[in-house]
Amino acid sequence: MRVCIRAAFGWRAFAAFAAAMAAAGPGLAQGAGAYTADQAARGGKAYADNCALCHGADFAGGPGAPSLTGPEFLFGWTGKSVGALFTYLHDKMPPGQAGSLSDQDYADIAAAVLNANGVPAGGQALAGGTAAASASVIARP
Ligand code: HEC
Repeated sequence: MRVCIRAAFGWRAFAAFAAAMAAAGPGLAQGAGAYTADQAARGGKAYADNCALCHGADFAGGPGAPSLTGPEFLFGWTGKSVGALFTYLHDKMPPGQAGSLSDQDYADIAAAVLNANGVPAGGQALAGGTAAASASVIARP
């Protein structure tokens, strides 16, 4: 299904905001607050330019490229750190052009991927220079 990327991110940013507000008590997902909603929106644009061709505008995957949302993706990444996700993106993606984006672009794209998986945004952006060291743990929201 083709989704208008702008509309999709507007909704996702709102959903992340609503989730962050709702999750202010016990049960807050680990990994929550590792990025900001604004950052996820920026990352969504960089994702559209650099990743969507293979992984789909809606993160659902495409021919030969895995989905970056949903149970299969979370199965692989639950319990790993945001830093590990950043490092994977930086060191492996896009295939054949790994490391071709700025550290901040990779951090923003990591934020967009977390957002697409329902990990709530917070008040602190994931900084490109220190993203590899982020110990925030990715958890099922
Ligand atoms: C040319 C197609 C292509 C492009 C462009 C591309 N990828 Fe990938 N991506 C793949 C393939 C193929 C795999 C599976 C790699 C493997 O299994 O080693 C993959 C794997 C991944 C994974 C691991 C998925 C998992 O389940 O663990 C992530 C995350 C990812 N890509 C993110 C990105 C991001 C972010 C970008 C843009 C910066 C990007 N990819 C650009 C083809 C692509």
